[in-house]
Amino acid sequence: MAERYFAVVPAAGGGTRLGAAEPKQYLDLGGDCMLYRSLDALLAEPRIAAVTVVLAPDDERRPPSGRFDGRVRFCAIGGATRADSVAAGLHSLSASEDDWVLVHDAARPGLSAEALARLIDTVGDDPVGGLLALPVADTLKRGDASDRVTATVERAGLWAAQTPQLFRAGLLRRALAGDRAGITDEASAVERLGLRPLLVRGEPANLKVTLAADLALAQALLSHGGA
Ligand code: C5P
Repeated sequence: MAERYFAVVPAAGGGTRLGAAEPKQYLDLGGDCMLYRSLDALLAEPRIAAVTVVLAPDDERRPPSGRFDGRVRFCAIGGATRADSVAAGLHSLSASEDDWVLVHDAARPGLSAEALARLIDTVGDDPVGGLLALPVADTLKRGDASDRVTATVERAGLWAAQTPQLFRAGLLRRALAGDRAGITDEASAVERLGLRPLLVRGEPANLKVTLAADLALAQALLSHGGA
């Protein structure tokens, strides 16, 4: 049987760094919440067979009926960390070992259809998998506890990781099966197995909303149709 593409969207975080009253995935972005906009971006890709949204165990919010097509499933099975939430989502998938899984942050509403298709097409049949990422453009500084520069970090070869991150279900389950401490994205879990994921060029508009200023930027990009 041909491999299928599934998506897992971790959406069980509290979003405390944003300082808002409710979890950031539910903040309004141009008349709809950030989570639903991120789901729209995934559902625009016809190769994705099903999307599992991982919500916090006490999250009872669900979209109005008919808001999404039958490909989306909401599961209140999130864990203490993002990696725990992704592992729970993977566990609940009916994907077989060789099926592909795209993991995409609920807090990245600006994913374009082009970047998503580029990831799927470029990874193709790669034995490891890959992720969207952007080469770092700024000069990088390491700072100490009092915000004094301690070093300038060589920028060549550095990329900022984005999502989606695309791996086969079997590999990802193995990568996330053990100790998940310190794992902030799927690629880092796969790297711990000694493998080298493919870097596929993402885009600035696919930013992760973390701070209040990011929300304003995401809003501005959305109203201008992306960047
Ligand atoms: O907090 P951060 O920005 O790293 O979260 C990235 C994504 O992971 C968000 O979509 C958030 O909802 C999700 N997350 C999760 N479970 C957690 C923590 C974060 O699903 N325990």
